[in-house]
Amino acid sequence: MNRFNGKNIIIGITGGIAGYKICDLIRLLVKENFNVEVIMTKSACEFITPLTIQTLTGNPVYTELFTLIKESKIGHISLAEKADCMVIAPATANVIGKIASGIADDLLTTTVLATKAPVLIVPSMNKNMWENPVVIENIKKISKYHTIMNPAEGLLACGVYGSGKLPEVDDIFEMIKIVLSPKPLLGKKVLVTAGPTIEEIDPVRFISNYSSGKMGYAIARVAKRLGAEVVLVSGRTALKKPYGVETHYVKSAKDMLNKCKEFIEDTDILVKCAAVADYKPESRADKKIKKGKDNKLTLNLIKNPDILFELSKYKKKGAIFIGFAAETEDAEKNAIQKLTNKNLDMIVVNNVAEKDAGFEKDTNRVILITKTGKLPLPLMTKEEVAYNIFDHLKSLSLT
Ligand code: CTP
Repeated sequence: MNRFNGKNIIIGITGGIAGYKICDLIRLLVKENFNVEVIMTKSACEFITPLTIQTLTGNPVYTELFTLIKESKIGHISLAEKADCMVIAPATANVIGKIASGIADDLLTTTVLATKAPVLIVPSMNKNMWENPVVIENIKKISKYHTIMNPAEGLLACGVYGSGKLPEVDDIFEMIKIVLSPKPLLGKKVLVTAGPTIEEIDPVRFISNYSSGKMGYAIARVAKRLGAEVVLVSGRTALKKPYGVETHYVKSAKDMLNKCKEFIEDTDILVKCAAVADYKPESRADKKIKKGKDNKLTLNLIKNPDILFELSKYKKKGAIFIGFAAETEDAEKNAIQKLTNKNLDMIVVNNVAEKDAGFEKDTNRVILITKTGKLPLPLMTKEEVAYNIFDHLKSLSLT
C-alpha cells in the first residue's frame, strides 16, 4: 500500500540554477506513483529544458508560451483544481515577491492564487538576496498562508558560502509527504529509539548487533508526517537523519537511557524500537587489547539496564509505551511476557530469523499485541508497519 498513490503534485520551477536538481525530485515522485505536472517560467527554461522535464514526468510541461496557445484547454484553473499540493522549487526572490504581493502575471503565479491546495515554497538564491530585508519581509508574509522550507547552508553556485542553497532533494520529497498527510498526532510528543547500541571493549572494538535502524527511522518519519513533535534517539546507523526530526546520536545502552530520560516526562508516545545490547563488558580497556600468546580471550560481561523498564518509572499519565520484541522462537509467548514485565501498552513482535523481515530488511512482518488482543499483519514495508502502529492506537482509542 502506498498512502500517496496517484496524488497530483504541481511543481512550479522558476529561474534559479538549482532548477536542474528538480529533475531528481521528479524522479523520486514518479517512482512512488505521484502524478507530476510542471509549470516552468520563462527564466526556468533558460536553465533546463521543458523536454527534459516532460520526459521525466511523462506529462506535457506548461510554459508561458504554451499557456497562451492552449489557455482555453489547460489554463491555470484546471491545474489549480487538480493539485493535491503545489511545490515551487526553486523559488526565486522574484516569485516570492510576486506571491507576497498577490501578483498573478503568468501561469505559475496565477495558479498559486487560484489553488486551494497546500503550497510548499522552497526558496533558493544568493546569500545576500536571502538576507535582504525585503525578501525576509516577503517570506514572513507568505509563511502565514503557505509552507516555507528554509534553504540549506553550503557553498552556493555563486561561489559564496552561506544560506540560500536548495535543500536536499530527499528532504523536499519528505516535506511534500509531510504537507500531504493528515495530522492525527498534532500536539503529541513522540519519542522513538532506533538502531543498535554498542558496548565498547577497548578503543577499537565493541559488541553490537545487526539492527540497521530502518524500522525506528520509519516510525520517526511517519510520526512526523502525522503531525507529532518527534525526538529520535539513535544508535549507530548508516541512515540519513529524518527530515524535521530532532535527532540525538548515542552509543551505549547507558547513553541511550540517559538521553531518553531528558525527554520522557513530556512524552505522549514512546516507541522503543532500538535493539539494546543486554550485556556490556565489565570494564573497558583504555588501550587496545593486544593479541596474547593464549588461544583464548575471556570477556566478562555484565547486564545493562533495561531501558524500557527504567523509563516506565517516569511515564506521564495517559502516555503510551510501545516496545518491540525481536524473537527467533516462541515469538508471541515471549512478547506477551515482555508486554507485562516491561509495563507496556503495545508490543510489536517480529521474528528476526525470517528472510524477508526483521534486521536490515526494508520489509517486516509483525504482530501488534496489546492487553486486549492481537493484530497479525502481512509482509509490508517498514514505513507501512509504522502507519499501522499509529492507526491501531487510534482504533483502540489510545490516542
Ligand atoms: N529493551 C530495553 N532495554 C534493554 C533491552 C531491551 O529497553 N536492555 C527494549 C527494546 O528496545 C525492545 C524491548 O525492550 O523494545 C524488547 O527487546 P528484546 O531485545 O526483544 O528483549 P529483551 O528484553 O532484551 O529480552 P531477550 O533479549 O531475552 O529476548
